[in-house]
Formats: sequence, C-alpha cells, structure tokens
Amino acid sequence: MKPKVLVTREVFDDTLEFLAHHCDVDANQADAAYTPDALAAKIGARDGLMCALTDRVDAALLERCPRLKAVANIAVGYNNIDVPACSARGIMVTNTPGVLDDSTADLAWTLMLAAARRITEVESYIRNGEWTGWKLKQWLGVDVHHATLGIVGMGRIGQAIAKRAMGFDMKVIYHNRKRVAPEVEARLNAQYAGMDELLAQADFIILQVPFSPDTHHLIGAAQLKKMKPTAILVNSTRGGVVDDAALIAALRDGTIRAAGLDVFENEPKLNPAFLDLKNVVLAPHIGSSTEATRRAMAMTAAQNLVAALTGGTPPNWVNKDAVAKRG
Ligand code: DGY
Repeated sequence: MKPKVLVTREVFDDTLEFLAHHCDVDANQADAAYTPDALAAKIGARDGLMCALTDRVDAALLERCPRLKAVANIAVGYNNIDVPACSARGIMVTNTPGVLDDSTADLAWTLMLAAARRITEVESYIRNGEWTGWKLKQWLGVDVHHATLGIVGMGRIGQAIAKRAMGFDMKVIYHNRKRVAPEVEARLNAQYAGMDELLAQADFIILQVPFSPDTHHLIGAAQLKKMKPTAILVNSTRGGVVDDAALIAALRDGTIRAAGLDVFENEPKLNPAFLDLKNVVLAPHIGSSTEATRRAMAMTAAQNLVAALTGGTPPNWVNKDAVAKRG
C-alpha cells in the first residue's frame, strides 16, 4: 500500500508525477490556503504532508492528525512549523535548503539596487507621464559600488549575497550568531563585526537571519537609530525580524534613507502605511520565486517526503537528532 499524502498548495506537474509514483496523493491544485480546521480534516489519516509557509503546523493540528509521520515544507525557513511538537510525536520535518540561495540573494540585491536608485519612484514618474526632460539634479540616488554592505545572518544565502558584493567593490561586514570559518571570510572578503558596529558602519544592511523568538524584532526603533541617516535596509528573510511600525516611523522621519522589503509582519496584510511611503521598495515575498528555483524547491520537498515515508533518510531532515533520540 502506498503512503497517503496531502499537498496543501498548487505545485508543478512534475512534482505531482514524482509523488504519485510513490504515494497516494491528494493535491490542492486549487491553491487556496486551507483554514486550520480544513487542514486537519484534509490530513485526516494521511501519513505525510507537503506544505508551505502559509500552513501553520502546530501542536493543536498534530493532535488531530495521529497518523502523520512526515511534514515536508516547501521552503528553507520553517517557522510555520512547531518543530519541537513534531519531534515529540516522532514526526519528521524537512525543508529545502541550498536550491534557493542564489535566487534569494539576487532578489535581496534587486531590492538594494532599486532602493538606492529609487526605481519604484522613477517608474511611477514615467508611467504617470510626468517626465518632461533630462535634468542634472534629477532623481539623485546613492552608489552601491564601493559602499559598505552589512549582512546580518551569514548562512548560505548571506554568503551568496556577499559573493555578489565583490563585483561591486564593496566593503563587506557581517554579523552572525557564530563567526564563519576564516577561509569563508577570506574567500568572500568579509569581516566579522558586532551588531552595533555593523549598524553604525554599513551603508546598506541586508537581513538574512532565520525567524525565531530570538530574532523577533531584531531590528526595532533602537537599532534603526544606530544606523546612518543615509542607510538603506533590506529585509529578504522573514516578516517579524523587523518591527514594521518602527521602520515606518524611521522611513517617515529620516532616521534612515530607504528600505527594500520582500517580507512583512502579518503577510499579506502589510501595514498600509508602507503604501504611502515613497522611500520603500515593496515585493510580495518573492525571494525564491523564479520558475527554476520554485520547481527545484517543490521537487526537493517531494523527494524529502518520499524518503521519509518509504524508509529512507530524507536529505533535508531538520529534526533528525530529536526524532532519533526519541527512538
Ligand atoms: C523560504 O524558503 O523560506 C522562502 O521564504 C519561501 O519562499
């Protein structure tokens, strides 16, 4: 008998074909996110779940799904899943690291460049038919090349962001829970800095730390005040790492120059005050959204799920030690 799995959001045909080869699949190709009740009912007695960051997998849900053995998230971040609650029930949790590093780094750079050169402002200006001619002092932006880039979170994506800075002759400083290996620092020409030092020195700050209770509001009013008034902040990781209300106040009163944001608190209902600010570039959580990368993420999640449910070892098993310890 094939294991029974639920896929909560629309995925690609090749993902479904692969899954169907190994599992009995119920796929929500209609793509509307399930409510918690609907999700519990759909999982029912299924063995596996392939889900997205829009699905909350918490203890209350797990209580209602006693047969569940594996949860494969289609994302590298897994703050939508209560991993300790899964581990306590012996449920394997997997994610999709590696396949999205370059695409997410590209998007962080897109936001940084767009905010520095005021791309959303100038595009509206042209679309509104307001452009009457070239002027020397028109739409002055700031240079990214030769500036100082501060990266907060120097995991795989942070390192891909740093690599791109070499082509722009930037000075790169970074802050991370743990200092990276000296050979990585040397390869990326990146110097470790304390958080306050980074906030004070960087012209551009890109946040790439995972979201957790420790990183909730890592950047709030106090940290924004420590930045240069000319600083540009990019959040390409998770909403909640930045206190959005504090950022809005800082963008309004000139505490910092501008921001580029792919993620928000309370997505998709972002704070409407962002919409009135000209000095912010907004994107709807598309960091990893290229066709090739989203296909690779979905297939990676499917491979993890199949391995978990067919006696294999999922390649990206995030709670392996906790589940193994439980026996
Ligand atoms: C991730 O992988 O965590 C991304 O945010 C999903 O797009």
